[in-house]
Amino acid sequence: MRWSQLLFSQGFGTRRDCEALIHGGFVEHQGALVEHDEIVMAHDDLPFRVEGRDWVYRTQALLMLNKPAGYECSQRPSAWPGVLTLLPPPLRTRSKGGVQPIGRLDQDTTGLLLLTDDGALIHRVTHPKHHVPKVYEVQTAEPVTEAQLARLRAGVVLNDDPQPVRAAACEATAERALRLTLTEGKYHQVKRMVAAVGNHVNGLHRSAFGSLTLDPEALPPGRWRWLSAEERSALLHRP
Ligand code: URA
Repeated sequence: MRWSQLLFSQGFGTRRDCEALIHGGFVEHQGALVEHDEIVMAHDDLPFRVEGRDWVYRTQALLMLNKPAGYECSQRPSAWPGVLTLLPPPLRTRSKGGVQPIGRLDQDTTGLLLLTDDGALIHRVTHPKHHVPKVYEVQTAEPVTEAQLARLRAGVVLNDDPQPVRAAACEATAERALRLTLTEGKYHQVKRMVAAVGNHVNGLHRSAFGSLTLDPEALPPGRWRWLSAEERSALLHRP
């Protein structure tokens, strides 16, 4: 493809904007200016610079964000800024449609959020039949009891569905903290499950999604990174 097509696919504006970036001397590759709209062999991880900022080509975008509190995952955030504002603008204007969160975390929930522009991948990973486990670290208002843990494992009925929902795994991690693994993603599921057993969520953090875990030292709150090809395939082809 041509450089202008490559830039367009990665979200750097209209075809005309992308040509203007090239002719204005704002695009570099391997330390040299891209002076003409020449053909380039695009492949994942091909590095380039636009207006002094390093970038890599990705056929499809798949990334992880360490979501801070105070950001909404909805497409049209109302009360709080949207999570997409934490990402570089080109990720929101990629030619296939910008990235969107894979499932949602509440405004006050922190931790691992995946985003992609690949609709099939979203469907694959969020469909309940695939049982992709998500791990939540929960701070509770009241001490966690064995009876509460047993009920979370056995299943609790939430108000919108007569079918009980159960934790795939559940353990106390401190007097007022527990680790809960869920394989579905119902609205406010953790908060509603914990309320249903007579406790209350004071803090919620997602630490793992499928095969991926969040390393907050490597990726502090508010930061994002691309997933590697290996991470992508481990997410899609779970045992
Ligand atoms: N469950 C909740 O209650 N909130 C979240 O953000 C995620 C899971």
